[in-house]
Amino acid sequence: MKLNKYHFVGLFLITLILACNVKDTGPSVIDLKVSNLLSKMTLEEKIGQMNQYNGFWDVTGPSPEGGDAKNKYEHLKKGLVGSMLNVRGAEEVRAVQKIAVEETRLGIPLIIGFDVIHGYKTISPIPLAEAASWDLDEIKSSAKMAALEASAAGINWTFAPMVDISRDARWGRVMEGAGEDTYLGSAIARARVMGFQGDELSSNETVIACAKHFAGYGFAEAGRDYNTVDVGSSTLFNVILPPFKAAKDAGVRTFMNSFNELNGVPASGDTYLQRDILKGEWNFDGFVVSDWGSIGEMIAHGHAKDGNHAAEISANSGSDMDMESSLYVNELASLVKEGKVSEKNIDDAVSRILKVKYELGLFDDPYKYCDAAREKEVTGSKEIMDAALEMAKKSIVLLKNENNILPLKKEGQKIALIGALASDKNSPLGSWRIAADDNTAVSVLEGMQRYNGNTLSYAKGADVSMGKTEFIREVTINTTDKSEFPEAIATAKSADVVVMVLGEVGFQSGEGRSRVNLDLPGVQQELLEAIYAVNKNLVLVVNNGRPLNLSWADENVPAVVEAWHLGTQSGNAIAQVLYGDYNPSGKLPMTFPRHVGQVPLYYNFKATGRPTLPAPGIVFWTHYQDVENTPLYPFGYGLSYTTFNYSDMNVNNTYAENKEVSVSVMIKNTGSVSGKEVAQLYIRDVYASETRPVRELKGFDLVDLAPGESKLVEFTLTDEELGFYSNKGSWKVENGDFEVYVGGSSSTTNKSTFELK
Ligand code: BGC
Repeated sequence: MKLNKYHFVGLFLITLILACNVKDTGPSVIDLKVSNLLSKMTLEEKIGQMNQYNGFWDVTGPSPEGGDAKNKYEHLKKGLVGSMLNVRGAEEVRAVQKIAVEETRLGIPLIIGFDVIHGYKTISPIPLAEAASWDLDEIKSSAKMAALEASAAGINWTFAPMVDISRDARWGRVMEGAGEDTYLGSAIARARVMGFQGDELSSNETVIACAKHFAGYGFAEAGRDYNTVDVGSSTLFNVILPPFKAAKDAGVRTFMNSFNELNGVPASGDTYLQRDILKGEWNFDGFVVSDWGSIGEMIAHGHAKDGNHAAEISANSGSDMDMESSLYVNELASLVKEGKVSEKNIDDAVSRILKVKYELGLFDDPYKYCDAAREKEVTGSKEIMDAALEMAKKSIVLLKNENNILPLKKEGQKIALIGALASDKNSPLGSWRIAADDNTAVSVLEGMQRYNGNTLSYAKGADVSMGKTEFIREVTINTTDKSEFPEAIATAKSADVVVMVLGEVGFQSGEGRSRVNLDLPGVQQELLEAIYAVNKNLVLVVNNGRPLNLSWADENVPAVVEAWHLGTQSGNAIAQVLYGDYNPSGKLPMTFPRHVGQVPLYYNFKATGRPTLPAPGIVFWTHYQDVENTPLYPFGYGLSYTTFNYSDMNVNNTYAENKEVSVSVMIKNTGSVSGKEVAQLYIRDVYASETRPVRELKGFDLVDLAPGESKLVEFTLTDEELGFYSNKGSWKVENGDFEVYVGGSSSTTNKSTFELK
């Protein structure tokens, strides 16, 4: 072959690219492609990439819904849309992608986002429930399955995981997170990001993840969604930010900012969070999307004068993509021309977005997620359904089991199943189930019917909600209709054992679903008491998206099973636990209070100067007059059909020599069936320049044990576990006394001590 001048130019470029790659500091191939493309773009085209629209397309054309579909369609054709959300299905995505690729000047493909929160069409347990498994491999695999199913339906970006820590059960979105603890939350954030994104971003079986809501959204005052957040910097650095940092370190490609204000600044306009911390200190090189319309909401917050001002603040503070407020596409060009937003900031945002599109491989094949045959084959496949069942079983927490009333016998028992939720095929899907078909969960009734050695009779007892519940509707709870009580009472009377399924309907928790009351909704408490009055052999199965006040049940009912909203396989998982085919091993990722007035209630609180009763009758200590301080069920708590004994705790303190403290403990299965224990290690830094919590989770391990079997479990504490962030944000490890606890919940008394010198 004869070489011509083009070959030499080509060779030169390849050498340049290789040289840049070898030197870690230089731009990557993708960076070069991005800057090349950027150099060809007009200002309007750049701003278009920063604009994200909600779906307005129903395969054949713009859907009339929302009124502005036509306008959005025009924008799409002009290359003024960089991403769409809520367009789904291989064919539908192909249709919009085709316009972006074939009809716009530069043919830049769209990135397609969707809330794949816990499964796509096959629904896995709500994230809070999954967190109760403490099983990082299973959680990762659950995210992987969700990605597999969603990616086959044209989606390449999920708005998950939500890594907001929350201590307030009144907040409806606790269902979407990993609970109250930063250490567990960070580990789960990593697992979910890795599960969604896999090893290969350009694979058509994975989606990119989004750590949200940056930051502080879980600390809404009084648990009221979207409310003001007012936390000290110690809480910000030690509690709120670490799971985001963990997601970033696991390679998450996007962040979503949040609706709330923090220290007087709405998150969508927060330069400190987005530019100084995320893109500065943490060196995050993906992009930030706003939350739905949150840029425009800065006007209502009282932070921006008007839409133009909101766009200016947001773009300058580092929000790269505008979800659905249309303010970037309408305002940014004039703001740049007036010099209020620099083109450098625009270029930075667009480069980040294009980079992710290149990483996904969308420029090589924009239709790689649009294979209708694959969609058909993958959706609801056996692999995905089996994984949903595994995850659901592992998410169940046994809260009480007096006299081993559970497991139920497989034959010879007359069982009464009571409660509207027992036959409900919709509620187990939770509230984040946009792509799932209604009523597709296996109900508890169906799950139990598969065990047909017993006589099973069912009575509803009472409806929980009245009327239809839909995604964006308020749920109306039945507080009056008890007309079906008598039938349920009669059914219970004649049974050997009664199983009641009570709790929240699927749409009672989730976004915009805050509650001031944590009791069983509606007439369910009355129903429970009425049934208990006629049959005390009672098992209560709770379906819910948040910790509820189960005080009465705990005092009276012999067995309580926390079964959350467990998704498509809910009834199968619950039945397997009830009949003992699966030995429950879940542990609570959030504290359950005795009374809503205790909330926010969490295990890793600060001691205060008056932690304990000074002398009988003295009132001046930190307590309530009417309810004790302790929770009903603490963080990390959960029982099994077997029992475990912890012994021989040993602390090997080699911190002075090699900066390590190792802790070991022997765990024995002292019961008669195999079981899994989640062994948890907590520390307390007894005194410090800034006070530390009474306990902090710093390690956990899942231990499978046959009856009579023992295993030694070992943990290593390094600076990473022993230190904390000062209220100025710097990391500190301080010498002094520490306590260490290892046991089966945050209230374990199995304790030792060591000193850092
Ligand atoms: C939620 C986000 C979600 C977005 C898109 C917002 O209301 O806060 O978490 O990803 O909607 O559906």
